[in-house]
Amino acid sequence: MSENFDAGWLTLREPFDHAARNHALAMRLVGALPVKPRLIDLGAGTGSLFRYLAPMIDGAQSWTFIDADPALLDEAFNVTADWADGLGYRISGDDSALTIHAPGGDWVMDGELHDLAAIPGGLAFREADAVVCSALLDLVSVGWITWLAGTLRVPFYAALSVDGRDGWLPFHPVDAVMRAGFRRDQRRNKGFGRALGTGAIAEALRAFSTLGFRVSSAPADWMVPRTALAMLDALIVGGERAAVAALPAQRHVLSGWREARHAQAMGLRLAVRIGHRDILALPK
Ligand SMILES: C[S@@+](CC[C@H](N)C(=O)[O-])C[C@H]1O[C@@H](n2cnc3c(N)ncnc32)[C@H](O)[C@@H]1O
Repeated sequence: MSENFDAGWLTLREPFDHAARNHALAMRLVGALPVKPRLIDLGAGTGSLFRYLAPMIDGAQSWTFIDADPALLDEAFNVTADWADGLGYRISGDDSALTIHAPGGDWVMDGELHDLAAIPGGLAFREADAVVCSALLDLVSVGWITWLAGTLRVPFYAALSVDGRDGWLPFHPVDAVMRAGFRRDQRRNKGFGRALGTGAIAEALRAFSTLGFRVSSAPADWMVPRTALAMLDALIVGGERAAVAALPAQRHVLSGWREARHAQAMGLRLAVRIGHRDILALPK
């Protein structure tokens, strides 16, 4: 059973994700790809990573979006078609595949429903030139990342894993309680066994380097300014909810924290930085 993600949340975070991803690391992935690369996007959601990487790859390319949520895969086609339309590119296709006729070549995307936690044997990793994901690794387990590293013979790129750093400005005395609860909730089983949470980066680097991949990682922090009220609200509400789930005895303290943070946000006095890292593993 996979964790559910709301398309509205993925849409809200997309511009922050795009600004945060480490461009230099992504360009190293792009440099490692052949012409007309075939990519598999694990936990693709609504296709945010495609909309970030496809223009960087630029030429003809094909993508398979994998997700356990059929509604998100449907939305991925709609959102990506609208996005390409906004860029002025012609689009063709049907329910099973979308082709964006970009000036440098066709960008083809299709989608497959898989529960990745079930370690699907049907995934055609051998036909891919790279396997990529974004905001997925902190959900998975040590066993799963070890399995993935042992299965891949191609570049692996994982954007936006949380690293546990966060800065809420100004300081609030209950930040430490919220942070402790939030981190504990990140370790909750999201369908893959005990989730890696902030341990995802170290475990992924370990799993791939042990098998001879050249690994690197780089910071990719969300920078949420005072004016980004919807994102601030989502971080405040989501932070409180996760922390209360992990520390129910602290619910009154945390509800006071939420009210104080909301008041600051409404007064344009709150800014937040959430630490992430991007990872690249290249086979030798
Ligand atoms: C945080 S969202 C990230 C989505 C997208 N990669 C992005 O960056 O916007 C995590 C995604 O992983 C998918 N997911 C979670 N567990 C899964 C599983 N067991 N199998 C397949 N997909 C899964 C969710 O449906 C969701 O789309």
